[in-house]
Amino acid sequence: QPESIIGGKSFTAVAVNCAAKAGEWIKSKMGNFTQLDTKYSMHDLVTEVDKGAERMIRNLIATHFPTHSFLGEEGVEPGPEASAKALQDVSEAEYLWIVDPVDGTTNYVHGFPFYSVSIALAYRGQVIVGVVYDPSRDELFVAERGKGAYVHGRRMQVSKEAGLNKSLIATGFPAEQHVALPANMKGIQALAPKVRNLRVAGSAALHLAYVAAGRLSGFWEYNLSSWDIAAGSLLVEEAGGRLSDLSGRPYDIAVRNVSASNGLIHEELLEELQAAART
Ligand code: IPD
Ligand code: CA
Ligand code: CA
Ligand code: CA
Repeated sequence: QPESIIGGKSFTAVAVNCAAKAGEWIKSKMGNFTQLDTKYSMHDLVTEVDKGAERMIRNLIATHFPTHSFLGEEGVEPGPEASAKALQDVSEAEYLWIVDPVDGTTNYVHGFPFYSVSIALAYRGQVIVGVVYDPSRDELFVAERGKGAYVHGRRMQVSKEAGLNKSLIATGFPAEQHVALPANMKGIQALAPKVRNLRVAGSAALHLAYVAAGRLSGFWEYNLSSWDIAAGSLLVEEAGGRLSDLSGRPYDIAVRNVSASNGLIHEELLEELQAAART
């Protein structure tokens, strides 16, 4: 069993503190950052705020838990191979922090107020703490394994829609669009006529938090990385939802093609996506 308190500071308290501090700084820099670069593709942006926020979070975690391992998006070379290798390199870690300092950088760059800070702690590969913070709305989503998921102290529960026809579903367009776009377009084309409506709001971590909060019935996306999903995965599970890869295999931190839902529509969602992928 993992210790939940080390040196008098609970893991969750540190995660929340990191998210709040980084989030406040990120928000204060909105519209006045100076560096904008592309990484893996023209769809993959990075600013000095992404890098600065990750440094801030990493340092704060190292101060409290110097023996823990750390995996953050901006510490890894761009692209899927480097992401997979970076995750492989820390696969033996007892405690591993998985961090996306700004999830939704494209939104951030354009001033579209839907981005988040995503911080997860995994113990022997299993996520035990998940925190997603939305600075624009000052919404803090927190989950601890076995203890439920909360938004600003209020317990979250997934939605109750039992069919796709009453569902609001989100998806995303990843940085690897040249690989993922054909599959994703098939999914969109198959689902659009069958669901109440679709959303593509631009932060995978927040989409997952919204599934947990019952604001979305489900979410799927291809070609994500561990830091996009890890924190949100626990929010969804602890709010009573279901999470898997697109073949239905239960989520683990290496999953890249993810589907999350209120549980009730999960099979239907997977069937539609699988049938679409076969066309
Ligand atoms: C991206 C966001 C976006 C999703 C992409 C991610 P980033 O993360 O989560 O919603 O569609 O797949 O890469 O690069 O803004 O941290
Ligand atoms: Ca990125
Ligand atoms: Ca991300
Ligand atoms: Ca990011």
